[in-house]
Amino acid sequence: MRTIEDLGDLSGKTVLLRSDLNVPLDDAGRITDDGRVRASVPTVQALTGKGARVVVCAHLGRPKGEVNPKFSLAPAAQRLSELLGAPVPLAQDTVGESARATVDALQDGDVAMLENLRFNKGETAKSSDERADFARQLAALADVYVSDGFGVVHREQASVYDVAKLLPHAAGLLVRGEVEVLQRLTDPERPYAVALGGAKVSDKLGVIENLLGKADLLLIGGGMVFTFLKAQGHEVGGSLLEEDQVERVRGYLDEAKRRGVEIVLPVDVVAASEFSADAEQDVVAADAIPADRMGLDIGPESSSLFADTIRTARTVFWNGPMGAFEMAPYAAGTKALAQALVDATSEGALTVVGGGDSAAAVRQLGFADSDFTHISTGGGASLEYLEGKTLPGLTVLEE
Ligand code: 3PG
Ligand code: MG
Repeated sequence: MRTIEDLGDLSGKTVLLRSDLNVPLDDAGRITDDGRVRASVPTVQALTGKGARVVVCAHLGRPKGEVNPKFSLAPAAQRLSELLGAPVPLAQDTVGESARATVDALQDGDVAMLENLRFNKGETAKSSDERADFARQLAALADVYVSDGFGVVHREQASVYDVAKLLPHAAGLLVRGEVEVLQRLTDPERPYAVALGGAKVSDKLGVIENLLGKADLLLIGGGMVFTFLKAQGHEVGGSLLEEDQVERVRGYLDEAKRRGVEIVLPVDVVAASEFSADAEQDVVAADAIPADRMGLDIGPESSSLFADTIRTARTVFWNGPMGAFEMAPYAAGTKALAQALVDATSEGALTVVGGGDSAAAVRQLGFADSDFTHISTGGGASLEYLEGKTLPGLTVLEE
């Protein structure tokens, strides 16, 4: 993978830098977790330190090719400017007059940002011609391209994939760092434990399949666990359930047995009368969820079981919360799991928290980035990497 150093002298050169600044915003448009903006800073500084004129481009949300002020990158530009201690002017468009004027005004060592790439249909177009057309307009703004948006490297999109074919290119520090850690997970020190949560098992099928051949321990929590419990023959009441995946999950349970992979499921759950913080709630056995209740977190016994299991591991990857942690009564399972990773880290284990959402969860629960070996900025991207898929944004950098 080519590095920034391989790009040679950058003074006076304009660098198009693809970052992932897809940060969560509250209703007032304030950033609720700035992890991705912070993660973008080292590469920006490495480039400005070489005298480059840096043009940051990124997406926010999924505005589907339409200009929509709700998805403006303004909050990200402002936060980046604060972190850099330097102005980061935001163009009003991505490849139009404002973008060209903004880029033209840059001096060596300056930074500017383009508006949301996804305000343009070409960014995410299925047609490679449409994407290439937009990529040409992006490429026309710069002399070289640096890919540093790890969270989007699994997307075959104009600013991630097509533009790399048009300009001299390299991987930024974040992309290199993320890939280095994920590579270590492909040949892990054992025992290797993977904890998966989140709402939908269908999002994780590929990675589960792949992990059955790699992990020693697979812990399942979050909304997706109810499809596992159902596959074991238990009723799950009003809990999240993907009925159409039950057979497949049953197959995974059998396959795990054959391969000697231990699948650890919760033994108790917090069952609530409705999806709300002040619903009626009780801890019930995982095989006795009442018909009128929904499971919203793993229970205390499960938290201990999961934590003890994690502490035996030398390598841990975790993606997806164990419960509806945004509501305090259902945060205990996620918190216990995070704490177990912290403990494992201090015992010398390699611990990786995978993903924008899981990363935001651990920070919201009061943990620091330094409590873990690595917090990935890419949820989908890290899962696809572990799944063994080809990530277009990485392979194009090898060309
Ligand atoms: C993410 O938030 O997972 C990345 O920024 C990619 O965004 P996307 O899932 O909308 O492509
Ligand atoms: Mg995502």
